[in-house]
Amino acid sequence: MKKIRLAIIGLGKLGRKCAEGIFADQATVLAGIVRRTGSPPAPWLKVPAVTHISELKEVDAALICIPPDAVMGIAKDLLQSRIPVVECARLHGEAFLRHKSEIHRVALLHRVPAVVGAGCDPGALSLFRSYFALLAPHGHTETSLHTGTSLHHTLAAAGIKGVRKALATELKSTGGTIQRYVYVELEPSADAAEVEYAIVNDPLFLDEQTLVFPVPSIAALEETNRGVLLERRTSPGEPGHSSFLLEARFDEAGLAARMMLAAARSLPALQAGAHSPLDLPPGALWGEQRPAAEKEWL
Ligand SMILES: NC(=O)c1ccc[n+]([C@@H]2O[C@H](COP(=O)([O-])OP(=O)(O)OC[C@H]3O[C@@H](n4cnc5c(N)ncnc54)[C@H](OP(=O)(O)O)[C@@H]3O)[C@@H](O)[C@H]2O)c1
Repeated sequence: MKKIRLAIIGLGKLGRKCAEGIFADQATVLAGIVRRTGSPPAPWLKVPAVTHISELKEVDAALICIPPDAVMGIAKDLLQSRIPVVECARLHGEAFLRHKSEIHRVALLHRVPAVVGAGCDPGALSLFRSYFALLAPHGHTETSLHTGTSLHHTLAAAGIKGVRKALATELKSTGGTIQRYVYVELEPSADAAEVEYAIVNDPLFLDEQTLVFPVPSIAALEETNRGVLLERRTSPGEPGHSSFLLEARFDEAGLAARMMLAAARSLPALQAGAHSPLDLPPGALWGEQRPAAEKEWL
């Protein structure tokens, strides 16, 4: 299997998640990162970091992970170099259509495919909204955002020696029992095993199975935790009273990166021009895993 060689443009939150996703993906390989001059180094990456795409070798496609107002200029530059692109600028409605139309024009001119709006929202959530509306054409869709797993600060855990900050949540295990997850940010001198022992055996935590996870930053955990409730109900007069509900919790940048990688896998199957997630054949998002996916999910 020939791996797709990807470049990442911009190493912010989304760019980092794309890099992690590529490292964990068997179908793609990271050719390098394009960054602005003077951006702080990221030695953990172990791939070339350059300031222009022309400095990277054999790039099959580029994932654009930069602020929305900079996306069009960079996308045009890449398409002009005949490099297919995937992007997910947060644009919706008319603004999204104008953006897609301009990228389509340039992509056709240079005869390369581009995928636009392939993130979380726009992106994966747009697909769910669209399917719900397709299956219940006369109805009403409500989207509400909330913080993800109802994480709450726990003074009991934060009071334990060696713990700087702590968050807890209760989740149902696959076996149906309730488990308490306690995330702890430790003092540099703390012993993680001792902290875990103290929390698990604290009388306040003995009522449920308690699992302790040390994390580098509680603030970062709170920031990335997103949740969405997407609900579509048919209009009151419609027979059948269908309703569809998606309740999801996720890290937004991580989910957007997953969708970008899936879109990148679909590029070899696409014609020149701009494609939104609605234009993509769902099977193509699996790349070479398509037969296995079809067997498992149909
Ligand atoms: N559709 C979705 O669901 C979704 C989800 C998440 C993000 N996004 C989109 O993804 C993009 C990046 O988001 P993010 O959270 O990663 O942002 P971020 O953390 O601010 O990172 C953006 C990166 O872009 C580079 N950059 C900054 N200003 C630039 C400029 N003027 N020209 C070129 N590069 C520039 C920088 O990387 P270097 O220092 O390496 O150059 C910066 O770290 C945004 O457009 C956002 O709308 C979409």
